[in-house]
Amino acid sequence: MNANDEKREIPKDGLLYGDYLMVDRLLSCQQPITRSFGKEVHDEHLFIVTHQAYELWFKQIIFELDYVRHFLSEKEVKEKNMLFIVSCLSRIMLIWKLLVDQVEVLESMTPLDFMEFRSYLSPASGFQSVQFRLIENKLGVRNDLRTNFAKNHYLNVFENSQVIERIKKAENEPSLRELIEKWLERTPGLEADNFNFWERYKEAVNAYLEDLRIQSENQTNQTLKEELISEYNRKKEQFDSVFDETKHKKLIERGIRRFSHKALQGALMISLYRDEPRFNQPFHMLTLLMDIDALITKWRYNHVQMVLRMIGSQQMGTGGSPGYEYLRSTLSDKYKVFVDLFNLSTFLIPRSCFPPLTSDMRKRLAVPPFENGDERAEGKNLSA
Ligand code: HEM
Repeated sequence: MNANDEKREIPKDGLLYGDYLMVDRLLSCQQPITRSFGKEVHDEHLFIVTHQAYELWFKQIIFELDYVRHFLSEKEVKEKNMLFIVSCLSRIMLIWKLLVDQVEVLESMTPLDFMEFRSYLSPASGFQSVQFRLIENKLGVRNDLRTNFAKNHYLNVFENSQVIERIKKAENEPSLRELIEKWLERTPGLEADNFNFWERYKEAVNAYLEDLRIQSENQTNQTLKEELISEYNRKKEQFDSVFDETKHKKLIERGIRRFSHKALQGALMISLYRDEPRFNQPFHMLTLLMDIDALITKWRYNHVQMVLRMIGSQQMGTGGSPGYEYLRSTLSDKYKVFVDLFNLSTFLIPRSCFPPLTSDMRKRLAVPPFENGDERAEGKNLSA
C-alpha cells in the first residue's frame, strides 16, 4: 500500500494546519550527513531542502501527468475533458518554470562551500532520482536514445526491485507522446474519403513551391537569383521528406522524428486551422507540450551550468558518470519528446496558401459532436 493511501484519523475538533500538512514529519527530514561526522556545514541544509523541494514538485508533476494520460487513453477523447487535460498540462508547465528558476537558489552556494561536504555524498546522485526517471518515461523519452555512460544503463543504478519494476512499468505503459500520437491520428479532416487534408495540403504546398520557383527564375540580380534557387531547393527537399512516407519512417528510425506520419498530418492540420473553434484547445495543448519539453531542456541546461560551476568539466559525478560531459549530452534533441511539434514550423505555408475549408468541414470544426455519458475528468483516484 502506498503511504498516501493510508486513511487519516480526523480529530473531533477538526484539523489544525500542522496536523493536516504533517509539518512535523516533513520538517524532520532535513538531516545533514556532515553532522554525523561532528561537523556543521552551513550549505548542506540548503542542498537538502532544494533537492527535497524538487522531489515534491516531481511528485505533483507525476500526479498531473497520470491524470492526463488516463483521459487521453480513451478510445475517443471526450471533448468536454479537453479543458481539464489542458489545465493539467498548463500546471505541469508552470511547475517546470519554477523548477528551472529554482536552480539559481542552489547556485548561491559556492564551489568551495560545496567541497566541504561533497565527499560525504558519494555514491548518492540525482541520477538515482526515481521520480525524475518516471517523469521521463511517462512523457516518452526514448530509451534507445539515452546516453549510456560506460555502458551503464540508467536502470543499473537502482537496487530496489520494486523501484526497478515501477520504472520499467512506466517504460512500458503508453507514454504521453504515444497517447498524443494516437489522438492526433484521429484529427477530424484527415479521412481520405472526406476532407482529405493531406491531399489538399500537398496541392497547396506544390502551388506555393511553384510560386517560389517562378520568383527565383524571374530574379534579374544573379546573386539574389542563386540565393532564391538554393532556398527553393532546400524547401522542396524539406517538404519531400514529409510527403514521402518512406523517408519519414527512416527519420523515425534515426531518432530524428518521433510521430507517425498520420499524427504529423494531424498536428499540421491543427496548426493551420487553429482558429476554428474545435481546434482551439488542441492547438493550446500542442503549444503546452512544446513549452514543457523546452522547459525540461532549460532545466537540464541550468543544471549542467550549475554542475560546471560546482565541480568543473573534468571531475566525475558522485553517481559515477563523467559528470559535465554526460549531462551535456542530455541537452540534445534526443532527449526531447515532442521534437516533431517544434519542427512543424518547417512545414508551415503562408496563410494565403492554406487549402480552404469546405462548408461541411467548417461545420465539423465549429461544433463538437454530441457525447454520450457524463464522465467528468475530475475526481478520479489514479494513485497506484
Ligand atoms: C551542487 C549541485 C549539484 C551538482 C554538483 C549535481 C551534479 C550532478 C551530476 C555530476 C550528475 C550526473 C550523474 C552523476 O554522475 O552523478 C547529476 C545528475 C542529475 N542530477 Fe544533479 N547535481 C546538483 C544538483 C541537483 C539538483 C538540485 C537536482 C534536483 C532534483 C538534481 C537532479 C539531478 C538529476 C535528475 C540527474 C540525472 C540527470 C540525467 O541523467 O539526465 N541535481 N547531477
